[in-house]
Amino acid sequence: MIPEEKVREVAERLSIVEVVSDYLPLRRAGSNFSGLCPFHAEKTPSFNVNPAREIFHCFGCGAGGNVFSFIMKIEGLSFPEAVKLLARKSGIEIEERQLTPAERKSQDEHVQFLKINDLTTAYYRSVLLNSAEGEPARKYLANRSVEPDISEAYRLGFAPDRRDGLVKHLKNNGADLDSAVKLGIVRKSDSGWYDLFRNRLIFPIRDGRGQVIAFAGRVLDATLPKYINSPESPLYHKSSVLFGLDMALPSIRTGNAIIIVEGYFDHLALYRAGVQNVVATCGTALTGTHAGLIKRHAERVYTLFDSDNAGKKATIRSMELFLEQRIPAYVITLPAGDDPDSFLTAHTADDFAALRAKARPAFEYFVHSLLAETPPDSVDSKVRVIDDIVPRFRKIADLVERDLYEKEICRLLGITVHAFRKRMGGGVLSSRDSTQNQGNSLPAYDNVQDTLLALLLNYPEARSEIERIGLETVLTGDHLEIARLLMDSDHGLDLSRLSELIENPEQKTLFSRIMVSDGYLADIEWRTVFDQCTRSHEKKQLSSIKDIASRLAVLDANSEEYGLLLKQADSLRTRKSKL
Ligand code: GTP
Ligand code: MN
Repeated sequence: MIPEEKVREVAERLSIVEVVSDYLPLRRAGSNFSGLCPFHAEKTPSFNVNPAREIFHCFGCGAGGNVFSFIMKIEGLSFPEAVKLLARKSGIEIEERQLTPAERKSQDEHVQFLKINDLTTAYYRSVLLNSAEGEPARKYLANRSVEPDISEAYRLGFAPDRRDGLVKHLKNNGADLDSAVKLGIVRKSDSGWYDLFRNRLIFPIRDGRGQVIAFAGRVLDATLPKYINSPESPLYHKSSVLFGLDMALPSIRTGNAIIIVEGYFDHLALYRAGVQNVVATCGTALTGTHAGLIKRHAERVYTLFDSDNAGKKATIRSMELFLEQRIPAYVITLPAGDDPDSFLTAHTADDFAALRAKARPAFEYFVHSLLAETPPDSVDSKVRVIDDIVPRFRKIADLVERDLYEKEICRLLGITVHAFRKRMGGGVLSSRDSTQNQGNSLPAYDNVQDTLLALLLNYPEARSEIERIGLETVLTGDHLEIARLLMDSDHGLDLSRLSELIENPEQKTLFSRIMVSDGYLADIEWRTVFDQCTRSHEKKQLSSIKDIASRLAVLDANSEEYGLLLKQADSLRTRKSKL
């Protein structure tokens, strides 16, 4: 741990403009500096640095934070590493602490774990290559055209059909069996130690640096379960491991793209065909952690899942994660009935390249599959489609992309942009919205929230006023969360420090965006703007009461939903009356 005073000392010694200028040229633009964003490809500058607040924000990709976040992101470092790098730059010394006995012990155990996994990999591999017991597995691999070079690249192995083959091997090599139990590959019963894997083809699972952290074992026939994996262990957390990442990294670096598949054999099929920027999840759905890992290594991601319904669901679920992390995502669609393995068995690598060239942006894929499922031929079905789209649409970070999709969605649904936005704000869609257009235009609701939050950050008087009427009365969602953090933190107005405390990525983006774009508030009378904003908020609350009322009208008064809605309407009314 680096002491907090040291971190602040480093922050004070440096100017974010100078630090950023080491990586990209910046030009003065009003109260900010701006330049081409180093975190995504762009031709016009949307990357802004606010020197007074020591905060940066990119309007294109949403990256934002203080000087430490910048270094973490651009150098791929952890927070302490970034602090150390900047400390060196500014000539501040940070002394390394001695390891505590507990830390030393866990380091020793870690070494033991890795040694056990290496011994285990070698054991299974030698059974596969050299022993009579390995014959069925050798045949199996030959049948699936897995040549020796591929078998070697994956370090494939075979667990013989024996109770304690691995146990004996580990014992003979002086490994600590209790540690092997912690890794889950050996188990202990009253009658002694025994192996987890039996009669299974073994895929070692490696981390990005190539260290074996777990194993997956496949049966050689049609028995179930098809796969058994090592359980979670101190080395292995399946929700953050991408199988094959170490093999894929060189090719990811060249092309800046990652293809993601669901099966070990799918990975193998692509790798064998020369498509090497591939990773697979380990028998689990893609998680936010996976998406974050992908973002650290590539600019774009392609999903390549089975063409069945489960594959479609996985595709859409992963799109949401990629939208959240702001990674451009594309969907490679396989012919019906194929998985990547079967496709590459029957086709050439060029055929695959052609499929990949036809990959569609994930959001477009999502909208089209939604429309195929629910044709938008009535107000009701349109509402259903829009309500499915809206929460995902909100996650599109790029403003240009947002604009294009908004137009496209409205065209496909035959509704007006006004109607779409109204629904985005929670409004009720009527049959009038289906045809041409119009309606009065309140400022976009999000702008009101932005302005209120900006007032809160800039004017102590506004802060007391908002505190008096209650934060919840005028702020919602991420805006409310940030306001709470601000009120609760004893860091007061060190806004750059505050940006470190915000963990949620969307709130981080929101915060840095406001920090570089609230210049318009510089010479205003806060009270006037504040009153405008609260009035507009009130209107919005009123319209949601109307919305609730219209839903209540069609519900059974005894139903649970009715009761819930009624409560919601009540609390909205009370809050409104406080204004
Ligand atoms: P093949 O069917 O031999 O081509 O293997 P595959 O690796 O392509 O497997 P499949 O397409 O059936 O499943 C995709 C992935 O889901 C696998 O690679 C595993 O990670 C996981 N999986 C499949 N079946 C099981 C199972 O029975 N248990 C567990 N834990 N994971 C499984
Ligand atoms: Mn498969």
